[in-house]
Amino acid sequence: MKLKNSVYSANYKGEQIPVSVFGASGMVGQVFMWMLEKHPLFRVVSITAGEDRRGRSYRESVKWQLPVPFPESHGNRLFSTVEEVLAAPPPIVFSALPAALAGEIETQLAENGTAVFSNASAMRGKQHVPILIPEVNSEDLNRIEKQQWETGFIVTNANCATTGLATALAPLRSFGIKDVFVSTYQSVSGAGYPGVSHLDIAGNLIPHIENEEEKIKRELAAILHQNIPVYPSCVRVPVPFGHLETVWTALEGKVTASDLRESWATFHAPALLPSLPETPVHYLSDPLQPQPALSFTGSPPGMTVFIGRLKQQGERIGFTLLVNNIVRGAAGGAIANAELFLKQIGFY
Ligand SMILES: NC(=O)c1ccc[n+]([C@@H]2O[C@H](COP(=O)([O-])OP(=O)(O)OC[C@H]3O[C@@H](n4cnc5c(N)ncnc54)[C@H](OP(=O)(O)O)[C@@H]3O)[C@@H](O)[C@H]2O)c1
Repeated sequence: MKLKNSVYSANYKGEQIPVSVFGASGMVGQVFMWMLEKHPLFRVVSITAGEDRRGRSYRESVKWQLPVPFPESHGNRLFSTVEEVLAAPPPIVFSALPAALAGEIETQLAENGTAVFSNASAMRGKQHVPILIPEVNSEDLNRIEKQQWETGFIVTNANCATTGLATALAPLRSFGIKDVFVSTYQSVSGAGYPGVSHLDIAGNLIPHIENEEEKIKRELAAILHQNIPVYPSCVRVPVPFGHLETVWTALEGKVTASDLRESWATFHAPALLPSLPETPVHYLSDPLQPQPALSFTGSPPGMTVFIGRLKQQGERIGFTLLVNNIVRGAAGGAIANAELFLKQIGFY
C-alpha cells in the first residue's frame, strides 16, 4: 500500500525530504519557492522552467512578482530542464506547470515512483486522482491507493476559485445545501505571468475566464461529494492578488446567522499541518471586508479564507469570501496536501 510502504517515510525519517518545483519561475512557482524556503519538512533540490532558463540562477533569471521577500537562500539555485529532473527525480515534485504540459510530465513522474502534488487541472479527477483540500475532503487522499503506478502517485488541488468556495461551504454541508449562485472577481495573478495584457485589463473587467465556470461546477461536486446545482459567473478584475466571490445559497434547514458564524468558527482541519491556519475560515464583521488587500494576511500568510457580508433573504443566505488564489488556491494548497500525506504515513 502506497500510504503504508512509502519509500519516503523509510528513507528520510527525521530529515527534510528532497523536492523539486516544476514551473518555479511562474506565479505559482514563486509562491512555492517562498513557502518552501524555511519549510520544516521539505528541501528544494531542483527547479525547472522553460528551456531558456537552463543553467541560469533563480535570482538572475526570475522577475519576482510577490509582495513578500525574495527567498534569498534559493537565489543561487540553477534551473534544470524538465528532462534533466525526469532522469533522476526526487521523491516529491510540486508542479506549477501549464495544464497543456502537466498531464504527460506528471504521469511520467508518477510512473518513476515520484509523489506529485500538482496545481494543474490536467489530471484533476482522472484515474483516481483526488482533488484535495485537507480540511474538506482529507479522506479522498486514500484514492491514491487505486492509482495504477506502483509507488508514485498524483494528488491535485482544486482550481483557485473552487478552493475558496468549497472551504466556505464545507461547514454548511450539515444544513443541507440546495444550490449555489457564485460570482467571482478574480485577480490578474490568476492568469499567471505575464498573463493578461495591461491594455486589456487596466480600468476594465473581463466577464469571461476560459473553462473557469465549468471547473467550479465539476470540482465543487467532486470535493463536497454532492451534486449541488451551481451557477457560477467569473470575471477577471484589475487587482493583483486575491479572488473575491459573492455567494448566495439556499439551505434545507432553518438556520440563523449566528448558526452559520458558529459553523465557520468551529470548522477545523482533521490534523493541524504546518502550512494550515488553526481555523481555515475567518469571519470579519466589518461591512467593508473582506477585500483583496487582505490576501497576504493571516497565519500562515495567504492561507485563511476570509468571509464577510453575511445576509439572509427568505431561505437564502448570502456572503462574500476572499481566497488568496496563488497561496491557498494554489501552491499553499499543494504543500498542505503533501503535509497531509506525510502525516498520514506517520512521517511526522
Ligand atoms: N495563478 C493561479 O492563481 C493559479 C491557481 C491555481 C492553479 N493554477 C495552475 O498552476 C499552474 C501554473 O500557473 P501559473 O499561474 O504559475 O502560470 P505561469 O505564471 O504562466 O507559470 C508557468 C510556469 O511553467 C513554466 N513553463 C512554461 N512552459 C514550459 C515548458 N515548455 N517546459 C517547462 N516549463 C514550462 C514557466 O517557465 P518560464 O517562465 O520559463 O516560461 C513557468 O515557470 C497552471 O496549471 C495553472 O492553471 C494557477
